[in-house]
Amino acid sequence: MAKKKPEVVVTRKLPDVVETRMRELFETRLNDSDKPFSQAELVEAVKTADVLVPTVTDRIDAAVLSQAGPNLKLIANFGNGVDNIDVSTANNRGINVTNTPGVLTEDTADMTMALMLAVPRRIAAGIKALETEEWSGWSPTWMLGHRIWGKRLGIIGMGRIGQAVARRAKAFGMSIHYHNRRRLNSDVEETLEATYWESLDQMLARMDVVSIHCPHTPGTFHLLSARRLKLLKKDAYVVNTARGEVIDENALIRLLEAGDIAGAGLDVFEHEPAVNPKLVKLPNVLLLPHMGSATIEGRIEMGEKVIINIRTFMDGHRPPDRVLPSML
Ligand code: 8YV
Repeated sequence: MAKKKPEVVVTRKLPDVVETRMRELFETRLNDSDKPFSQAELVEAVKTADVLVPTVTDRIDAAVLSQAGPNLKLIANFGNGVDNIDVSTANNRGINVTNTPGVLTEDTADMTMALMLAVPRRIAAGIKALETEEWSGWSPTWMLGHRIWGKRLGIIGMGRIGQAVARRAKAFGMSIHYHNRRRLNSDVEETLEATYWESLDQMLARMDVVSIHCPHTPGTFHLLSARRLKLLKKDAYVVNTARGEVIDENALIRLLEAGDIAGAGLDVFEHEPAVNPKLVKLPNVLLLPHMGSATIEGRIEMGEKVIINIRTFMDGHRPPDRVLPSML
């Protein structure tokens, strides 16, 4: 007798090729409307599904997990960050969690560089000047920004994405500095010509650009606190393509409003999808709507990872991208 296909609930619309393959392999419930699930819809889903495929927009907390039916054995997150999932509670209930690391590294690093160039070089202001027909011709002293060549970049979180940013920034002539829970191997440090700072505070006070690449965990919530943000130089820029919660957003806004730092490029926000209206009004920021990994190639590869994780798990093996609470 053929093995029963697992019931897989996917909470958001995924690229067509991914959905087609999932339909072939699993008893798949898709979300054609792409409307995010409410908490009640998530509870409904976990009651019957064998596998849940959520995204960053779904909060799989202890309350949702407490309603999980006996069939739910795997949460295969479509995304790298798993701060949307209470991984410890899931594991305690015998539910495995997987993510999609690696395949969005280069795209997120590219977007980080885009912000790192766009903010100091005032690209948004330049586009606006053209669109509002404010431009009357070239001038030697108009629209001057700052160069990033020769500047010091401080990377917070030197995992895959942090290192991919370091490689790019080095090619742009920046000197690479980093703070990480663990120091990198000396050969990696040498290749990247990266300087390790054990003290985040000391690093912050000396950087021209600070870029966040650590995950959001209870330990990194408001890592850039009001106190730490005040350590930044007046001409420093902050870039965040990781998670909004890592920065105390209100404190950052106060610094930007006061001109106590030079600017910020933000792809993520503390209360997504809400964006603080004060941020939108600031002239020295560039805001993007969480687009760091938004390439069709990346999203298809994320879907492929989800499928591999489900297949491997259903075949009785350890899924390749299993997330354990000790890894967070
Ligand atoms: C994803 C991300 O688009 O993977 C992550 O951690 O932040 C994004 O790039 C999103 O999380 C998908 O769920």
